[in-house]
Amino acid sequence: MTTAIPLPGKAGDGFDPETAGGSATGLGHLVRPGEIDVSHGAILYLEDVTVSFDGFKALNNLSLSIDEGELRCVIGPNGAGKTTMMDVITGKTRPDAGKVFLGQTIDLARLDEPSIARIGVGRKFQKPTVFTSHPVWENLELAMKADKGWWASLRARLDREAQRKVEEVLALLHLEPEAYRLAGDLSHGQKQRLEIGMLLMQQPQLLLLDEPVAGMTDQETMELAELLNRLRGTCSMMVVEHDMEFVAALAGDAGRVTVMAEGRVLADGTLAAVRSDEAVIESYLGR
Ligand SMILES: Nc1ncnc2c1ncn2[C@@H]1O[C@H](COP(=O)(O)OP(=O)(O)O)[C@@H](O)[C@H]1O
Ligand SMILES: [Mg+2]
Repeated sequence: MTTAIPLPGKAGDGFDPETAGGSATGLGHLVRPGEIDVSHGAILYLEDVTVSFDGFKALNNLSLSIDEGELRCVIGPNGAGKTTMMDVITGKTRPDAGKVFLGQTIDLARLDEPSIARIGVGRKFQKPTVFTSHPVWENLELAMKADKGWWASLRARLDREAQRKVEEVLALLHLEPEAYRLAGDLSHGQKQRLEIGMLLMQQPQLLLLDEPVAGMTDQETMELAELLNRLRGTCSMMVVEHDMEFVAALAGDAGRVTVMAEGRVLADGTLAAVRSDEAVIESYLGR
């Protein structure tokens, strides 16, 4: 800890840039962003996770793991518990039982939402939430400063580095021609891509996307699939979606698809394998 060194801003708030994430907060084992221990291959590990709402088990012994660098698609009928699973991973909902780990060592079930966001789990909600009256580039710049405390503000003053990061993400998003337009003037698909870019400014290790193509045109849907495919290798991703063409564009022939139903994993395998799975056809695809 560096408590002996007077630092600008909120000195004594327990925030230590050397361990960015706050080991002094007593919230459990935390490491610096980028130092998630994936030595056993998994970025996310859920084991026998149960969440009950008034006795109803929204998650019922859910177990799954995602490899570092993987893009995992999750499908399943409404009410299967997909959003609840994301709520558990991001600390919005506490599991009644089970293990939820980021890498080998970070027990997500013991951390609160801001801490989980800070250690590198980004979440995209269905509705885009961009700053409509600010230009596209400024949305990205603001996202980098958001919610990171004084240390990030200090770092954000390293303007050239920030500028480079904004340009890099604009290029990834294919939004360079829109850089100076107001975010509010973008199409729905562009807004969705911008919001993903805002998450990328925080350099997430794991990105969670819950039904990202809802309300998009076919072309916007395919543009988003291309963007997520470009992000492979930058971060691990978990994508919940009903749109099977979108899922096919992400999973390809070899990607793993998880089918959830009634709060647990019903099937897991390539898209072709789960599509021909009897239980899946009965509970979901064949309806
Ligand atoms: N906060 C809550 N209180 C009570 N029931 C809930 C709550 N959140 C989700 N549920 C219930 O849990 C089940 C799973 O919901 P959800 O995770 O949203 O499913 P999915 O995202 O797969 O459609 C549903 O039956 C839903 O009604
Ligand atoms: Mg849902």
